[in-house]
Amino acid sequence: MSSNRAVAYKGPGVVEVIDIDYPEFELKDGPGVNPANVGRKVPHGAILRTVATNICGSDQHMVRGRTTAPSDLVLGHEITGEVVEVGPDVEFVKVGDIVSVPFNIACGRCRNCKERKTGICLNVNPDRPGSAYGYVDMGGWVGGQAEFVLVPYADWNLLVFPDRDQALEKVMDLTMLSDIFPTGFHGAVTAGVGVGSTVYVAGAGPVGLAAATGAMLLGAAAVIVGDMNEERLAQARSFGCETIDLTKGDPAEQIEQILGVPEVDCGVDAVGFEARGHGGDSGHEAPATVLNSLMDITAAGGALGIPGLYVTGDPGGIDDAAKKGALSLSLGTGWAKSLSFTTGQCPVMKYNRGLMMAILHDRVHIAKNVNATAITLEDAPRGYAEFDAGAAQKYVLNPNGYLDAA
Ligand SMILES: NC(=O)c1ccc[n+]([C@@H]2O[C@H](COP(=O)([O-])OP(=O)(O)OC[C@H]3O[C@@H](n4cnc5c(N)ncnc54)[C@H](O)[C@@H]3O)[C@@H](O)[C@H]2O)c1
Ligand SMILES: [Zn+2]
Ligand SMILES: [Zn+2]
Repeated sequence: MSSNRAVAYKGPGVVEVIDIDYPEFELKDGPGVNPANVGRKVPHGAILRTVATNICGSDQHMVRGRTTAPSDLVLGHEITGEVVEVGPDVEFVKVGDIVSVPFNIACGRCRNCKERKTGICLNVNPDRPGSAYGYVDMGGWVGGQAEFVLVPYADWNLLVFPDRDQALEKVMDLTMLSDIFPTGFHGAVTAGVGVGSTVYVAGAGPVGLAAATGAMLLGAAAVIVGDMNEERLAQARSFGCETIDLTKGDPAEQIEQILGVPEVDCGVDAVGFEARGHGGDSGHEAPATVLNSLMDITAAGGALGIPGLYVTGDPGGIDDAAKKGALSLSLGTGWAKSLSFTTGQCPVMKYNRGLMMAILHDRVHIAKNVNATAITLEDAPRGYAEFDAGAAQKYVLNPNGYLDAA
């Protein structure tokens, strides 16, 4: 039996690389595993040797101590791997396939899966609809920032790349298919982006940059990205975005300087509940800032795509309401303008194949746009710290050496 090294959350601000068990076709008890999932048989699963696994802003919410994640929870929901074992019920996926794993775990059998709403599968998380690898309150499926990981319902969940050599050559782009590229694209789609749209994306982290990339693929006329982090804004400009420095104040005035009007057709929130205020308040957390400002600047009849994460419980919330996930929203503004809102996990499977084809045919260079940077698994603590400090990079862990050539 092989050993298995993995990145674990130890406590606020601390991650460590630890030894965990090699996966079996059964969900074992462990940190964060829902009791109702302990002993769950997974004959429909595949065991992957990890090719690439990315650090995400969603992981940082846990690592900053802003969730109820328990110590020793194994992190990692952005996984690309090589299939090394399949369970007896797997019919189509084969040992040796190089595959992308949607971060949402889905059964393929429930009502929501059948409607392609794989972000809210009803059968994989006993707590609530929706699940993910290596995440608090998501059922306890072990994270993939590890050498090996188990993927349930493998025939349904896995996207098999058509050619092994081509996949390994483009792996730094393809690794973004497990989460941020579909997620950013979903943000743009649900914000109504089409040919000629004007778009404002709040947040120049990897998800914001992926949303900006998605908006360009969809034909947007102008893509404006706002953040307080100059290095990240420079990254957005590197592939043709306009940018807004939010330390200078609300975005409306700067949007007017760019577009001639203080509004856009489409708004994307790629920030979430740890949003900071604008202008003089940019040093302070103000969780409703992005949603309220998007309602202000999105034209009447427009839509807000909201991939940014909002929680139901936040030990570090700024007040009692925020600790329960309740925010002070100017919903009247949104109502008066007939704005539409789309929240929730991105249903990755809706988009990953199409975006894979765009990558394989050189229509888009997502790795370059998000400044993908490979580091070793043992270096994960440094990657977490630098990403938390606002580096304009998307860190990709390389647990088994597949990325050495990339
Ligand atoms: N819905 C999904 O399926 C899904 C998937 C992946 C990530 N996410 C979420 O998307 C969000 C972004 O992820 P990321 O990896 O890019 O995170 P990140 O933390 O790297 O980026 C967030 C950026 O927002 C900036 N910011 C803070 N306040 C702001 C404001 N008022 N206006 C504009 N920018 C502001 C920060 O400076 C930072 O650069 C997170 O909340 C993450 O959990 C959701
Ligand atoms: Zn992610
Ligand atoms: Zn399901």
